[in-house]
Amino acid sequence: MKDKYAALDVAFREAKQWLENLDQNPILNKADREELLNRLMVAMPEDGMPGEDVVRHLVDNCKDNLLGSPGGRFFAWVIGGGLPAALASDWLTSSWDQNAVLFACGAAVNVVEEVAGKWILELLDLPRESSFGFTTGCQLAHFTCLSAARYKVLKDLDWDVNQDGLCGAPQIGIFTSEHRHGSVDRAVRYLGLGNKCLHKIATDAKGRILKEEFAKKIQAYSGPKIVVLDAADLNIAAFDSFSELIPIAKEHNAWVHIDGAFGLFARASLRLKNFTAGIQQADSWATDAHKWLNVPFDCGIAIVKDRESHRNSMTIHAAYMPPHKTARDQIDWTPEWSRRARGVPVYAALKELGKKGVADLVERCCDHCAFFVAEMEKLPHTEIIWKPTLNQALIRFCDPEGNNSNDHDKYTQQVVRKVNESGEAFFSESKWDGNVVMRVSVVNWQTTKSDIERVVQAFKNVLH
Ligand SMILES: Cc1ncc(COP(=O)(O)O)c(C=O)c1O
Repeated sequence: MKDKYAALDVAFREAKQWLENLDQNPILNKADREELLNRLMVAMPEDGMPGEDVVRHLVDNCKDNLLGSPGGRFFAWVIGGGLPAALASDWLTSSWDQNAVLFACGAAVNVVEEVAGKWILELLDLPRESSFGFTTGCQLAHFTCLSAARYKVLKDLDWDVNQDGLCGAPQIGIFTSEHRHGSVDRAVRYLGLGNKCLHKIATDAKGRILKEEFAKKIQAYSGPKIVVLDAADLNIAAFDSFSELIPIAKEHNAWVHIDGAFGLFARASLRLKNFTAGIQQADSWATDAHKWLNVPFDCGIAIVKDRESHRNSMTIHAAYMPPHKTARDQIDWTPEWSRRARGVPVYAALKELGKKGVADLVERCCDHCAFFVAEMEKLPHTEIIWKPTLNQALIRFCDPEGNNSNDHDKYTQQVVRKVNESGEAFFSESKWDGNVVMRVSVVNWQTTKSDIERVVQAFKNVLH
């Protein structure tokens, strides 16, 4: 009898091979758009084909154009890998195909998500009474948290945003760092607040919001206020001074939201937790499981201390979807209606690592980043712009024949390109103080000390 799920076997074999080969294969693959279009942009077929052939077709046409970002020598952006149990449970989540909208649509995954959320609160040592929602990423976690914030700061002024919208509403002011991530601006746009409501505050040499400027700006604003602080900015992992800034924000009745896309995971480590001192006094926190917890894309987490505001800003009822009396229906806490149970891989990652394993993963990445920078510092033409305090560093390469910053910008781009083209490692660029820099981000469970040595050798080959 024909196996109607033969496609799964092909996918399993191919997926395993891709993962097992990550270490040998070049990280940068061809990325040839023209060729990909030639292969894939064909007329939509009139007739179908067996599932296993579809999977083979996808593998054959995509495999030489995949970026090796799940591997241990990928240091661009902030992209974590996928822990084996997290990845396997992600496959299960797809196979079970439960609609994680209500307990009624999938009791088991509903409870798994509830436990995963509670474990996250414990791991990150955030107020245990907080509510949470598993979103697609930190972008939507910001949206979710800031929806709750918008609801609350307006409700405090007797304005019901759910009923009355924003026309004529008191103008909300959002106070935030000049180094905030663009996903904050986008969440603000989604919420109809407009980017003009962002009051950007200058930072010190360590990338932290200047307290005096913050106090002055927030004091001068009479409308409803939201403050967004960084728990590790995208370039240098700068943590704002929560214990100084949050009390000031609270004096002015502001809602405090934290962008902790990856930095919030420093709280899993006793050694690193101090960077986040005072952060538990905030009102909401957005983070990602697909970054430092190393679950596969996509999974962000929105955490809100004021459960009522969180629920009121998200919940919806429909006659055909009766709420459960005691269970935590996910639709009350997330912006989506139908959704995959993306909290299941979070449960699996936490079970696979345990609290000690998460702490070890986070500390290991920081140690690898420090070791990498220490080795790079010995190389010619290499200037360390930011020594890692956490897992992020910035490096610039100086053109030995150049004499201005333009030359060094070009040389930096050239070195990064050559190393990426070698297939031995992969880095991305950024700008710091107006100059091109290479950004280093270590967030993958697979990275080892010998990976770092191999990557340093790749730079030696280019910089001799
Ligand atoms: C500091 C920071 N905040 C927010 C985001 C957005 O996260 P996501 O891509 O999961 O939406 C990122 C992404 O890299 C980030 O680095």
